[in-house]
This record gives sequence, C-alpha cells and structure tokens, in this order.
Amino acid sequence: MNHISVEQKLISRVEDVTPTVLRAMAATTDPRLKQLMTSLVTHLHQFVIETRPTEAEFEYGLRWIAELGHRTNEFHNEVVLAADAIGVSTLIDLINNDGMQGETMSALLGPFYRGEAPQCQCGDCIARSETPGAELYFSGRVVGVDGAPIEGATLDVWQASPVGLYENQDESQDDFNLRGKFRTDAEGRFHFVSVKPAGYPVPTDGPVGDLLRAQHRTPLRPAHIHFIVSAPAHKTLITQIFADTHEALVNDVVFGAKRQIVGAFVRHDEPHPDYPGAATPFYTCHYEFKLVEGTPCFPMPPISGKKG
Ligand code: BEZ
Ligand code: FE
Repeated sequence: MNHISVEQKLISRVEDVTPTVLRAMAATTDPRLKQLMTSLVTHLHQFVIETRPTEAEFEYGLRWIAELGHRTNEFHNEVVLAADAIGVSTLIDLINNDGMQGETMSALLGPFYRGEAPQCQCGDCIARSETPGAELYFSGRVVGVDGAPIEGATLDVWQASPVGLYENQDESQDDFNLRGKFRTDAEGRFHFVSVKPAGYPVPTDGPVGDLLRAQHRTPLRPAHIHFIVSAPAHKTLITQIFADTHEALVNDVVFGAKRQIVGAFVRHDEPHPDYPGAATPFYTCHYEFKLVEGTPCFPMPPISGKKG
C-alpha cells in the first residue's frame, strides 16, 4: 500500500515538509477534522514559506499565543478577545448567520457573556447596584420572519456600565449587575429598564493590547447592548443593538458593528406620561427582533464568574 521509500519520507528540503505532514495525518477518521486540519496545515505552511519568519519572530509569536492562555481565566477570556480583534470571530459569525431569511442580523458574542443571569420580570431594572448614568427604557418585540409574535421567547441581556466596564471587570458593581433574562408575553413583547450604555475600550493590559498598540489601533467599541434571543423551534439569535450612530461604528476594534442593528436611542429632556418616574434626561429604545425557524442552540459562556 505504501510505495514511498524511507529516503523519500525523510524531510530534507522546505518543499518536503507540507506533503510529509499531510501524509502523517492522512489516517484521520473524522472527515471534518481531516478537512479542517489539512487546510489549516496547508495554509499555515504557505504563510510561513511566504513570510519566512526568523527564529526570534517565531519564539515571540509562540509566547504571544501562550500568553493568551495565561491571561484567560473564569473572569476574563483573552483568547476570544484575540479572535475578535483580528476579525476571525466576525467571519465565523457572517458565514453562519447571513441574515438572508429576513432574521435580525447577528453580532459577536464577545468575551463578557457569563450565562446564568437572573430571570427577571418585564419592567424590572437590570441595574442591581448604584450605576450612575441616564436611565434607558428598552422595549421591543420578538417575532418570526413572517411578523407573527413569539410568545415565551427568552432575551438574555448584558451590557457595560456607563463607565465602560462589565460587572465581571469591576469590583464596585454587584454580581450580575446589568445582566438579566426576560420572557416575551403573548404578543411577543418585552421591556426592561437599564442605563444608557457607553462605548468602552476592550482590555489592553494583555497580548491583544500589545498588538493593538503596535498596529496603532483604537481599543474602542461603540456603545451597545448584547442580546441572546431564543425560542423553541427557532434559531437562537446572538446580537448586539448599537446606540452609537457616529464614526465609532466604523472604528469598532472587533469589527462587530453592523448598520442593520443600530437602535434608535431617543433622548427625552422633558417628563413623559408613559415614563412617570423617569428623571430627565432619559432614553428610550424600541427594537423588534426577528427569529427564523430552526433549532435553538446556545453558546458556551467565555467566562463564568466575577472578580471580588
Ligand atoms: C463585547 O462587546 O462585549 C466585546 C466583543 C468583542 C471583544 C471585546 C468585547
Ligand atoms: Fe460588549
């Protein structure tokens, strides 16, 4: 079966390496693993042959990758941040969620999703500890792509505080501050109270920060609120609703902002009868999420805990 001589199997030139490695992996039984690894090795070898890294550069690159792991723990995920910052996460997102059936566009999960957020009642406020900032009254509906309301859909919501920190990054915020789960009523409606999110820098004290500085890139993300919208017999939607409409959207450090998921955050400087207790100025936003039929499936949370 094997017609290749021992001499031919021994690597002596650059050109020998890729075929020899591919032969070594040829017995992989899982066809998808075989396809992925064959393509990965082929492209990676081609990258190395093309760019000819020095040994010092190779060592630096390996240390950079190892540091992604060292910096990853239950409160922070530097590996996810790295995939986001080089656009790989957005590619994966768009390949798997093209929005072509009329469903709401998806966006990155990001590194700050914890899962296990407390179940709330519609109308609850997700600011669980003193969180200075303008109040936000967020309301909306969850419907199918045909516009029919979806009763009993779940919205898992999380956002950064107006100072730009998620509670897992900030000892001054209570556990699960600005996180909560809501369910839609018979008309597919939901509403909750929060604070208007601000844009924020992604963490820059690790290897991703080193890369961003070397590339003279902004670490900023435009202001947004994260949602995972799920319902039985529907494809789960992971998305973000953006509050910013200015240049921050095009300079998103993780390439997650999309025109289709900008929400209208309306500022109110006068009291409004629909929001009797609201202190001015406050904001309102209404958004309709559209789900396509499919099988619900849920992401693994990149982090599980909170500092402090
Ligand atoms: C976020 O929106 O939470 C996020 C997404 C990607 C990288 C960093 C933060
Ligand atoms: Fe975020």
